[in-house]
Amino acid sequence: MTILYTIESDHIDEIKMQELGRIIREGGTVIFPTETVYGLGANAFCDFAADKIYMAKGRPSDNPLIVHICNIEQLNQITDIVPKKAQALMDKFWPGPLTLLFKKKDTISDRITSNLPTVAVRMPDSKIALALIEKAGVPIAAPSANLSGKPSPTRAEHVIHDMMGRVDAIIKGDDCRVGLESTVIDVMHDPPVILRPGGITLEQIAEVLDSVIYDPALDRYDGTLIPKSPGQKYTHYSPIGQVILFSGESGKMRECISKEAKSCVEASKKVMVIGTNENVENYKDGIIFSLGSRTNLEEISSNLFSLLIKADQLGAEIILIEGFSETGLGKTIMNRLKKASGGTIIRCGD
Ligand code: TXA
Ligand code: MG
Repeated sequence: MTILYTIESDHIDEIKMQELGRIIREGGTVIFPTETVYGLGANAFCDFAADKIYMAKGRPSDNPLIVHICNIEQLNQITDIVPKKAQALMDKFWPGPLTLLFKKKDTISDRITSNLPTVAVRMPDSKIALALIEKAGVPIAAPSANLSGKPSPTRAEHVIHDMMGRVDAIIKGDDCRVGLESTVIDVMHDPPVILRPGGITLEQIAEVLDSVIYDPALDRYDGTLIPKSPGQKYTHYSPIGQVILFSGESGKMRECISKEAKSCVEASKKVMVIGTNENVENYKDGIIFSLGSRTNLEEISSNLFSLLIKADQLGAEIILIEGFSETGLGKTIMNRLKKASGGTIIRCGD
């Protein structure tokens, strides 16, 4: 049975939080909000807790989990070595949507790291998440709280729909501000390499480090390079319907999508169009939604998963989505969209 706890981030209920902390400490599972997406948490020092997470998500156990901490003492329980570059990034971006790899101590179960010698750690910037870790008194291992392969949940209603009965408790809290997962970076590699683009951009990281690159295997579909982050090799973020991603200049995408939506409707397919404020009024066919303004990528990020989940709720068979240029947060947005589309991308105006 899953217990549902409503928690307000401005008035965190001490008694409820203590109870939730106890569930984690004693080896149970709790779904909680973070500023990126909802996480499915368990005690990072407990072997069987990791198995519970993999079971609840239906996740392959060769995909390691991120460990969430609320203070630096907890980092010292997980690793002996904090490289200078890591310290510089932590000073600038923690608490926040940046996950760093460290050499792991034996305190962390091999099941959490999928037998890798490294452990991924982040300090989330959410009052509820930080309070939960503090009350648990242990670091919390947590992947995104979606069923494996599905878009990550950014609102309590998403996890309540998918996860009731699969975990011990769910915290009904705020909508997630960032809406896309954290950036995963390996600073032990020279030059430091971004394994998964996320809420902190390469451009922001480059202001702190001399050099930083993306893993060259990111977004490749030809199988010639193997991503360093195990999670990047899986199909992800996929609604049931077929996602078709469009790229090119905004007006050109509008023309392509309009044509495609019309032919879907003529073929009696249930089509959903996910556009931007600049274009939506021009779309006529299908169920039409806007992610927000092209000039506000934060807004686009925070709405993205929620609209992919909506596609399933509405039973869309085809989902046509406008793409974005791949700089700043646009790189993260396009990484998720390319995965959701399984590489089905139409270039407009070439
Ligand atoms: O924003 C986030 O990061 C959210 C919230 C809940 O914190 N969590 C999240 O976890 O997205 P998950 O499990 O869905 O994604 C973790 C990613 C995966 O791609 C995994 O392969 C990678 O981090 N990862 C974890 N440990 C790793 C390691 N030791 N080496 C390389 N990649 C690792
Ligand atoms: Mg995930």
